[in-house]
Amino acid sequence: MKAAVWHGPRDVRVDEVEDPKIEEATDAIIRITSSAICGSDLHLYEVLSPFMEEGDILGHEPMGIVEEVGPEVTHIAAGDRVVIPFNISCGHCWMCDRQLFAQCETTQNREEEKGASLLGYTKLYGQVPGGQAEYLRVPQAHFGPIKVPEGPPDDRFLYLSDVLPTSWQAVDYAAIPEGGSVAVFGLGPIGQMTARIAAHKGARVIAVDLVPERLELAQKHGIETLDLEEHDDISDTIREMTEGRGTDGAIDAVGMEAHGAPVGEFAQKAAGLLPDALAEKVIEKGGVDRMSALYQCFDTVRRGGTVSISGVYGGVVDPIPMMQLFDKGVQLRMGQAHVKKWIDEIMPLLGDEADPLGTEDLASHKIGIDEVPEAYEKFQKKEDGAIKFVIQPTG
Ligand SMILES: NC(=O)c1ccc[n+]([C@@H]2O[C@H](COP(=O)([O-])OP(=O)(O)OC[C@H]3O[C@@H](n4cnc5c(N)ncnc54)[C@H](O)[C@@H]3O)[C@@H](O)[C@H]2O)c1
Ligand SMILES: [Zn+2]
Ligand SMILES: [Zn+2]
Repeated sequence: MKAAVWHGPRDVRVDEVEDPKIEEATDAIIRITSSAICGSDLHLYEVLSPFMEEGDILGHEPMGIVEEVGPEVTHIAAGDRVVIPFNISCGHCWMCDRQLFAQCETTQNREEEKGASLLGYTKLYGQVPGGQAEYLRVPQAHFGPIKVPEGPPDDRFLYLSDVLPTSWQAVDYAAIPEGGSVAVFGLGPIGQMTARIAAHKGARVIAVDLVPERLELAQKHGIETLDLEEHDDISDTIREMTEGRGTDGAIDAVGMEAHGAPVGEFAQKAAGLLPDALAEKVIEKGGVDRMSALYQCFDTVRRGGTVSISGVYGGVVDPIPMMQLFDKGVQLRMGQAHVKKWIDEIMPLLGDEADPLGTEDLASHKIGIDEVPEAYEKFQKKEDGAIKFVIQPTG
């Protein structure tokens, strides 16, 4: 089959690889009809390269048709239409019983001191071959796959794999009081859906980015936006808009590659020039994150408010303004999305013909598998109006 394979920093190719097979009784094989590229894949594309190995198959936002299931997989069968969550969880361990699926104890990576395995996400997270391919082996398929109805196009359900539950969790974690306000930093796919969900739940949303077409897409959905580059101090501007107080919640939907953090950018570039083993140490022991979006959240949230972080960070000694956080009495919540925890709450919105979350306008590009290398390049550079790439490998 064809698959998107990582060969080196900024070097993703489409290779012919072996078709996946059932290996465990709890596996399933899926023929992929749609598979999205995520902002998290961009971290692997360059900054997190030291944790990648040549030959790794990328992708953790897939959906498709079940081809075959192992004997212990009973809730789905060949021919079913399914979405695959990006975290691989067993559904029955101590963590899964508490719906902390991103921390599943069956698939945790204890040697690396990391949480549950993830599809297509480096040796830190199990080095499981990903879903930007024609076929995918799904481990723990007795629990993970989400069966979705026939009828609406793939886009309606595809984002259940990651974007929608991540955004739902970001809003939940922001603890916005009834009729309250939230600032959303970043209007990539995660920020777009986070802003829409918060507005749908009745919050006043103020969203920040610096890419014109991303600001426009949010405005189209009735979101109040600010262009980062038009304000000297974005937090001051937001305070002026909120009676001098700041927003009840602030959400970081940007992560480690934020704009406006020259020191972090230098550290990331420097780590990229080192041999892998050394670079791993620099990233794991050093502070290589670009922290500007997170600092903006700390500054923008009102006293006693909550900062919710969905953007991914990787450093260990990143400087944190403890005095500011403590003095303001800020709550902090973060982490990988516990995908399956949120599905029952999201699903009714997807079943609604009116498509209230606007799932069908998020994808800016639909591509064949052969166009993947070019797509990564455009997505990283935010060229050609790139917001979300959806690959249709066999679609
Ligand atoms: N927690 C999870 O489970 C989870 C799941 C999916 C994605 N993520 C992470 O969420 C983040 C966003 O993902 P995405 O797919 O939307 O990525 P993306 O790269 O498309 O979007 C990031 C956006 O942030 C904007 N930005 C950069 N610096 C900014 C700043 N200082 N202030 C405001 N905006 C700024 C960029 O212009 C871009 O539009 C990534 O870090 C990704 O890894 C986390
Ligand atoms: Zn993702
Ligand atoms: Zn588990």
